[in-house]
This record gives sequence, C-alpha cells and structure tokens, in this order.
Amino acid sequence: MAIPNISPKIYELLGKKILQRQNHPLTILKNKIYEHFQKVYPGVFTMKDDFPQRVSVEDNFVKLLIPDDHPTRFPTDTYFFDKNTVLRTHTTAHDFEMLKNHNAFLIAGDVYRRDEIDAKHYPAFHQLEGARIWNLESLGLSNHNQGKEFALYELKKTIEGVAEEVFGDIEMRWIDAYFPFTEPSLELEVKWQGEWLEALGCGVYHPNVLKNAGKDSNTFGWAFGFGLERWAMKVFDIPDIRLFWSDDKRFTSQFSAEKGLTKFVPFSKYPVCYKDLSFWLPEIFVENDLFEVVRDVGGDLVEKVEKIDEFEKKGKKSRCYRIHYRSMDRSLSNEEIDVLQVRLREIAPEKLGVVLR
Ligand code: PHE
Repeated sequence: MAIPNISPKIYELLGKKILQRQNHPLTILKNKIYEHFQKVYPGVFTMKDDFPQRVSVEDNFVKLLIPDDHPTRFPTDTYFFDKNTVLRTHTTAHDFEMLKNHNAFLIAGDVYRRDEIDAKHYPAFHQLEGARIWNLESLGLSNHNQGKEFALYELKKTIEGVAEEVFGDIEMRWIDAYFPFTEPSLELEVKWQGEWLEALGCGVYHPNVLKNAGKDSNTFGWAFGFGLERWAMKVFDIPDIRLFWSDDKRFTSQFSAEKGLTKFVPFSKYPVCYKDLSFWLPEIFVENDLFEVVRDVGGDLVEKVEKIDEFEKKGKKSRCYRIHYRSMDRSLSNEEIDVLQVRLREIAPEKLGVVLR
C-alpha cells in the first residue's frame, strides 16, 4: 500500500462528528463518564473532544516510544496523509498538547485503524482517554518508586470508579499488559453476562514520555484509553458496530440524553447475501488491503469478510474469502449484490495483484 492510503470511504467518516450528536449513544456514554469525573473530582479534569483527526507521526508514535518497526507504524495498519502525518490511531496522540496546560484531562475522539471486517470491527471507532500527573515534591514524595506506587493506586481507584458508574456492581480484574508509553501497563477486565471483557488499557506514564512532553523529571502520573463502542455495545445492548454510524431513524430515535443508558430494541435483521471471491495470491498479500477494497466497493453493506479456504498447488497459494453483505434497513436483491461483486472482481486484480480463479 502506497502513501497516501486514505480511501474515499474513510474521508466520508471524517465529517460525521458522532461525538457532537447529543442523543447518540456514544455521546451519552462520553457525557456520563465526564459527569462522573466532575462529581467525584470537582474541577480537576478538563475535557476536550474536538481535536483534529490528523496528527503527526511524532505525536502518534515517536514521542510515545512506539518503535520504528512496530506494525502499527506501517501503511498496512495505519492511514497516512503523507509520511509525516496520519489519521490518529489513538487519542493518546493528543496527550502532549493537553499536558502543556493541564494536570488532569479527558480526551474523546474518533480514531482510525485498518482492520478486519465483522460485527465488532470497523476502520473507525471512538476512544476516551484520561490522564493525571503530579509533582513528586509537592506531594512530599522523595523518589520515583514512591511516585509509581502512588500513581498506580490512584489509577486503579479512579478507573474502578468509572467502570462501576457505567457497568454497575460487577466483578473486575487487573491483568498485566504492555504499552511502550506506560510502565507498568495494565488492562482492566470486567465480567459482563458471565464473560470477561477486555475493557480498557492504562498504566503509569513512562518517564521518557513525560520528558517528551516537556515535563521536568519530578513529574509522574497515569493515563488510560479505551474504545467507547466496546463499552456502549454492552451497556446499550447494541449488536453491530456499524449501527453507531447509521442514520436509520429506527436506531437513532431510540436514544436520548435525558433517558441515559437504555437498552436498544433490535429491529428485524434483513437477510444476509454472501458471495465468495477466490484467487491466487501475489508475492506480497496483506489482508487489510483486501478488506479496504471490499469496503470501498460495498461500503456499510459489508457485514463480514471471512477466509473460508486456503490451499497450495505447485508452489502457488490460493485463498477464498466469503463476503457477507447485509443492509441494516432493507432487503438486498441478489442482482444488486452481483453488481458489487462484478466491480470487486474488476478492482481486486488491479489493486491487490491477485489472479482471480
Ligand atoms: N492508547 C492505548 C490504545 O489505544 C490505550 C492506552 C492509553 C494505554 C493510555 C495506556 C495509556 O490501546
């Protein structure tokens, strides 16, 4: 994939401004969490939710200590405007700007990652980020180890409070994790309807990140970030991530700021129509490139793309993918999907170098 690699479908999403729609479930959830912070820590946290989506490679990766050779740094995984700027892959890219003037903040925004296609994955989603920093001296602490202990304690307490506010009285557990920009790094899991759900990533800021933010060496603190859709799918009972982007009244009319966290009542599902695509692989083949091409042709009608077959013959590799098409607001006709499939068969060889079978 050459740079730039931002398709027209992605450009369309950039203007949606979901988090500014007051009666959208993601906004309702965002506000609920912000209100929680205001209630528990009055006047401490500042919220910012309108940063531009285009950020520098420096802020998104380099200053966060994400190494050059990490897959997220490649155009297979990330949308690049040019070699120095990307569509933010996480809201953590904005921590540097916020850290200039704030000791505690929340950031909300849409983030972009090239990814697989199914009910839980979409190339764009929304994150909520939070961070808080202190100064060792002003707390009377004498070294960084004490700072780390303090931050870790505060972090867990803060996050457990948020999770309880949103999910209610549920079981939670902390798992060790890894992020280049925090040390230690942790993940919170919550037990939701009998299953452990990965809910959030967080940790104590790596000292070099705070240095890159221009902070002095006495500064320490914590940060967290998580996908709002993940939480919203559970608490509102929303079964498909594409619904968050839908303008269908049967979806949008169900939620309101006054009613808060309510359960979604599904409208009937229209039937799926699936088509298979089989081809010989070129020397280099990246699944995300295929997903993008399918998305370009089928848009939000594409519900899922799955690999259903793979074999090798005389050194040549073949794969077959099944594309599930389903509309959320009408029945699709076989003929209209055939049109999409024909277009896909035209574009795929050209864009991906595959040989159709
Ligand atoms: N940015 C991380 C992600 O997108 C989440 C995170 C934020 C982890 C802040 C630690 C601290 O997965």
